[in-house]
Amino acid sequence: MTSVSIGWEAEADLVVIGGGVAGLTAARTASLRGLRVLILSKGGPTDTATQYAQGGIAVVAPQEDSVDSHVRDTVEAGAGLVDTAATRSIVEGGQAAVAALTDLGAVFDLGRDGEISRTREGGHSTRRIIHAGGDATGAEVQRALNAAGLPVVFGAAACEVVTGPSGVRGVLAVSDNGFGVVHTPAVLLATGGLGQLYALSTNPPGATADGIALALRAGASVADLEFVQFHPTVLHTPGGLGRRPLISEAVRGEGAILVDSEGDSVTAGVHPRGDLAPRDVVSRAIAARMRALGTDHVFLDGRAIAGFAQRFPTITASCLAAGIDPSTQLIPVAPAAHYQCGGIVTDTHGRTGVPGLYAAGEAARTGLHGANRLASNSLLEGLVVGERVGTAATERLESPRGVGEIHSYTMPRVDRQALQQVMTTHAAVVRDRDGLAEAGQRLERAVLRNMSSRVANGDKRDTTLSAKDIAAQRITELEDGALTLTARVLLLAAAARTESRGCHTRSDFPDPVAALRHSISISLDPDGHPDLEAPIVPTDLPLIGVS
Ligand code: FAD
Ligand code: SIN
Repeated sequence: MTSVSIGWEAEADLVVIGGGVAGLTAARTASLRGLRVLILSKGGPTDTATQYAQGGIAVVAPQEDSVDSHVRDTVEAGAGLVDTAATRSIVEGGQAAVAALTDLGAVFDLGRDGEISRTREGGHSTRRIIHAGGDATGAEVQRALNAAGLPVVFGAAACEVVTGPSGVRGVLAVSDNGFGVVHTPAVLLATGGLGQLYALSTNPPGATADGIALALRAGASVADLEFVQFHPTVLHTPGGLGRRPLISEAVRGEGAILVDSEGDSVTAGVHPRGDLAPRDVVSRAIAARMRALGTDHVFLDGRAIAGFAQRFPTITASCLAAGIDPSTQLIPVAPAAHYQCGGIVTDTHGRTGVPGLYAAGEAARTGLHGANRLASNSLLEGLVVGERVGTAATERLESPRGVGEIHSYTMPRVDRQALQQVMTTHAAVVRDRDGLAEAGQRLERAVLRNMSSRVANGDKRDTTLSAKDIAAQRITELEDGALTLTARVLLLAAAARTESRGCHTRSDFPDPVAALRHSISISLDPDGHPDLEAPIVPTDLPLIGVS
């Protein structure tokens, strides 16, 4: 085992890893509580999923909506695995979280009556989604948080959370200045999602599941990772790969309809809410129709929406760039990987099972999303739980901190494109036992091949590379390692879930199974292999009756 040569050091009461909605909200609260905070972000100020959020934030309106109704919609979308107590707690925090954001300068769209305008999205029984800049909600949230003047080191990637008997003691990170350590008793993983596991995704390039790998290697558990949400309506262009532009569900909320190449409705007879059914239902209906017609996309018809370009400026720009005018033409769409419903197991204050290690935002699994997230509940969760972590971290102020010698953090990894191809073929919208087994075997073979080639060739680096290029190379390796470990965990959970539930659809087990109405939780065994733990049974409150 080699020892890592450390080029820089810092100290903080709380290290926040990630500069999206969850990380920055936590950092701001912790600063207000008097903690010395340091934020590490491997990208730039807008290289976050938060920046791209379109539809909005689901928040109960004071008069015509209720927490009960929002909880009920969330539970219904989550297909039996939503933790009702956690959901109620998060939904109740919505209005205060948005008020704090407004205090920071975030501006939300107003209706003609001068009140905050609310739209509707799939799975919601009422119009409760607040938005900004029409379809640029995330950009406004990110702008307001970035403007708060928080201490962020951009281009610095966390590689390892260092722990001792009392919990977290520090973080190993890499940047243009080489490897560094931050001595701290508290670390928040707010690293976003795993969209880059798939060939087509709405997620930014940095959505490489780093937080999942960091948490597992620090001894925390993850759950519900088999539930990857595929957004039904992502702009389809021939041969398009990587991050694809989203066509927000709010477009359907304002009246657009989904039709196939024959002009027939895609969701008629599928669900009482039709095109505004929960996301998993609509994505499955589209996948089935594409299979039936032998096509790789369907269409969204938004031509009847008055003032489309004013209401949806971001979407209009993406469509026009692809040669489509959405106010006069049909928009070609297909499902693509969008959201990681599971993640690092936490309570509603972001605490994991490792003292001093917190997680929030898309990286975390609070129990809010269950088997399928309700639209626009993610920004809500990032704001509410982020704020709570900022307060909870004060409990670590007196805990010991300080990192000694650090040994190699190298993780087994495989080529990203090959991994994306395997996951897209075998672990996307519809899965089965043979495909999942094939994916698992191909992954393990690729890991072994990669390890033997590294042993044979050593860990040689091109000595002519600049410090910036070396850092970029190390970050890519870190990301590939995180994606590889996350894929292994996801495949293990997906194989164990021998039923269809939420966004996990098994063609060989098409129905939900009552005995499997629990979350699959996974940690690493002493050899670093993913291992099933005791299942997590969701808390049900009497308000809700879910079969
Ligand atoms: P992100 O905003 O993704 O931030 C992650 C941060 O972690 C980044 O700064 C990244 O650089 C950093 N990072 C990652 N790994 C490391 C590392 N190893 N070291 C250092 N830094 C690291 N949700 C809604 O509620 N409403 C919507 O309308 C909506 N629309 C969406 C539209 C799109 C196109 C997408 C992609 C998502 C949308 N979502 C929406 C989901 C929502 O935007 C995300 O779930 C949410 O913004 C995630 O916030 P986060 O703070 O957890 O992570
Ligand atoms: C959308 O605008 O359709 C995305 C909303 C979300 O992912 O919550």
